[in-house]
Amino acid sequence: MIKQYRIAVVTGASAGIGLAAARKLARESVKLVLVARREDKLRALAEELSGETECHPLPCDLRDSENLARLFKSLPDAFAAVDILVNNAGLALGLEPAHRASWEDWRVMMDVNCVALAQLTHLLLPGMVARNCGHIVNIGSIAGSYPYVGGNVYGATKAFVKQFSLNLKADLLGTSVRVTSIEPGMVGGTEFSLVRFKGDERKAVGVYEDAEPLDAEAVADAVVWAVSRPAGVNINRIELMPVCQAPGQTAVVRKSP
Ligand SMILES: NC(=O)c1ccc[n+]([C@@H]2O[C@H](COP(=O)([O-])OP(=O)(O)OC[C@H]3O[C@@H](n4cnc5c(N)ncnc54)[C@H](OP(=O)(O)O)[C@@H]3O)[C@@H](O)[C@H]2O)c1
Repeated sequence: MIKQYRIAVVTGASAGIGLAAARKLARESVKLVLVARREDKLRALAEELSGETECHPLPCDLRDSENLARLFKSLPDAFAAVDILVNNAGLALGLEPAHRASWEDWRVMMDVNCVALAQLTHLLLPGMVARNCGHIVNIGSIAGSYPYVGGNVYGATKAFVKQFSLNLKADLLGTSVRVTSIEPGMVGGTEFSLVRFKGDERKAVGVYEDAEPLDAEAVADAVVWAVSRPAGVNINRIELMPVCQAPGQTAVVRKSP
């Protein structure tokens, strides 16, 4: 049960993990600021959750930093004292090796996964510290700890998320504000692979073929678990993966016989 928090911002609430986290936080009667580009999805979610909590849909592109600052500096009074920031919106684009990857793709991943996550933290953290109440939950990835072929900039953005979370924790010593980095392995049933392969369903489906990935609910459970720990407990990192996955495989090129 979430005791000390009343208002959460969830980015990427239009799909996947963010949508599942918003639903679970609503069940805890936390009011929600729902962030993503697709306004129709945010409005539908606000409608769906209206029996459980109040929602404020905030459609925006997280890469537009000027607009983001404007929107978050003028949140309606009922949503202004944000206690929980779930920095979930993020994406991988492409799986090409670094020397064939698109610069545009790299730029978008860095802008959404790192710059926007840092900007939202920068916008909301001073209020949390002033009220001495708050929790930043950053959704990283096992890709931030274990490299894989074609993971180049995506993995690097998630390493940023992990290290930024740990450094925030250090800066927040002496306050009651908590920070958690949640680092999932393969999660199915979200739009992640469809986005990575730019709408190529065959490739996207292939990622999960004959495997049993985590689902978005499993990651959302970790979010709610972290924020519902007793006030004196900070969960620094949660790394979770499906039973069918393991970290640490290195790539080897073998000479052909
Ligand atoms: N799926 C996995 O295997 C996996 C594994 C580890 C970590 N993760 C991480 O988990 C997080 C959520 O992934 P997911 O699997 O739930 O993916 P998803 O289903 O594709 O959801 C991504 C969310 O981010 C939002 N988003 C993307 N770009 C945005 C932008 N420029 N402005 C505003 N919102 C934006 C999308 O909303 P709109 O399109 O409506 O803007 C969507 O709601 C990501 O950070 C991802 O890196 C995923």
